[in-house]
Amino acid sequence: MSEQDALTPVTVVGLGAMGKALAAALLKAGHRTTVWNRSDAKADTLVADGAVRAGSITDAITASPVVIVCLLDYGVMHEVLAPAADALSGRLLVNLSNGTPEQGRETAVWAAGHGAEYLDGGIMAVPPMIGHPEALVLYSGSKPAFEQHEGLLCRLGDSRYLGTDAGLAALYDLALLSAMYGQAAGARHALALVGTERADLPEFTSSLLIPWLTSMTIGLPALAEQTDAVREAEDPVSPESMQAVAIANIAEASAGQGVDGELLSHLLVPLRDLIGHRGAGHDLPGLIELARKAAL
Ligand SMILES: NC(=O)c1ccc[n+]([C@@H]2O[C@H](COP(=O)([O-])OP(=O)(O)OC[C@H]3O[C@@H](n4cnc5c(N)ncnc54)[C@H](OP(=O)(O)O)[C@@H]3O)[C@@H](O)[C@H]2O)c1
Repeated sequence: MSEQDALTPVTVVGLGAMGKALAAALLKAGHRTTVWNRSDAKADTLVADGAVRAGSITDAITASPVVIVCLLDYGVMHEVLAPAADALSGRLLVNLSNGTPEQGRETAVWAAGHGAEYLDGGIMAVPPMIGHPEALVLYSGSKPAFEQHEGLLCRLGDSRYLGTDAGLAALYDLALLSAMYGQAAGARHALALVGTERADLPEFTSSLLIPWLTSMTIGLPALAEQTDAVREAEDPVSPESMQAVAIANIAEASAGQGVDGELLSHLLVPLRDLIGHRGAGHDLPGLIELARKAAL
């Protein structure tokens, strides 16, 4: 990080739970931090701590060479920035609002049309983590801009640059969120099942659920290696046919215990289709193909 980058003035647009944390981290790191939010009162604490309150979105953008936006979604971002889009010329726009890869790419084109450099970002952290190394923030888009301002961006957490395709950060962000939501949904199902018979769910969680999920991550590298070329395993460790039986039993047991089994049942139909299509005897890659409808 260059000394100059460490002192780069920065603007944060959007002071929801995440935007406030971003602005606070930049302020704490010593950057002149200008803030703007639709509901102006959300800036009060930051201003008391030394942030500069912008009177308008145009004032916010013109205050700094780097403008970080963290709003609800891309629709809101475009709505907020539109009246001041010309002011972006010559600046770096860093959008950390959640969105899709296509929205990231479209916004890169939009920003270029207004003379701005663009980085799209995905925050893989919750607000209390911001400013600490465990806060992972993914970026894609302008490489020169990332390299020039990496020092500033590292104030927010562990910054990872994924490539010049502005859609990559959103793609990776949504992929990681998919894994998180899927795991959380599975864990909720497990707790609901056990909860039909036992009340000691915290004990179940700490002594069985967390160690089980942790131990099962050991299979992820092998799963990833086999995504592109499905191997016909001679001696599969976890054959699809075995997994289909287990999933069917989960569905039946859930119904028997009065728990909604739709989440797991959803896996069963395409898994049986896959076995019908390819024959039994395949290993874990089959589970990945379930998500790739085109492969069936
Ligand atoms: N919080 C997290 O744990 C977390 C984690 C990772 C990523 N993120 C991402 O960070 C982004 C912001 O999340 P957040 O947690 O800060 O959400 P939030 O607390 O709900 O804040 C939403 C922000 O969007 C603004 N906004 C919403 N609708 C608007 C409109 N029509 N016009 C102008 N401004 C509008 C809000 O302004 P007002 O204050 O005026 O309503 C506020 O600044 C999201 O894309 C989210 O996915 C959040």
